[in-house]
Amino acid sequence: MRTCVYPGSFDPVTNGHMDVIRRAARQYDRVIAAVLQNAQKAPFFSTEARMEHLRACCKDMPSVEVMSFEGLTVKFAQLTGACAIVRGLRAVMDFEYEFQLASLNRMLGPEIETVFFMTGTENMFISSSMVKEIALLGGEYRGMVPEAVFGQLEPAFAKKRRNP
Ligand code: PNS
Repeated sequence: MRTCVYPGSFDPVTNGHMDVIRRAARQYDRVIAAVLQNAQKAPFFSTEARMEHLRACCKDMPSVEVMSFEGLTVKFAQLTGACAIVRGLRAVMDFEYEFQLASLNRMLGPEIETVFFMTGTENMFISSSMVKEIALLGGEYRGMVPEAVFGQLEPAFAKKRRNP
């Protein structure tokens, strides 16, 4: 059984994340979407909410599990028996950070390969931070997030818009 871990903040999950999950599910027997419990960075959505959003989006994909983790991604990957860490790559803007992450992860756990999926052009400029910014400033972000979670995201953004 080939397992991969797809770690991220998923704050919130975007269409770009789902594209990566769907494509990873075609290559691996088991995909673990792993939500980082950000200790230093205060996320907009709680760990539980981010996991719930992902579960709602992945409910039709039986090989995808949603878990949370703290600490090193490599350690979590080793614990789950994963052979790979999956990440999405958008444009050149991601490259330096991802290259650093992948290289350090390989130093920490050489047996675990980092595998990149190129984002489709339609998701090239979508990021969780931009979704949050657009949503909180009252812009149209519906087409950037999975329809399955829009109804859960919008009330939280609307509340924050009312009480910034
Ligand atoms: O969605 P993000 O915020 O781009 O994901 C970043 C993530 C979770 C992949 C990265 O911050 C991470 O792996 N954090 C866990 C701690 C760790 O392993 N750091 C890297 C050491 S080289």
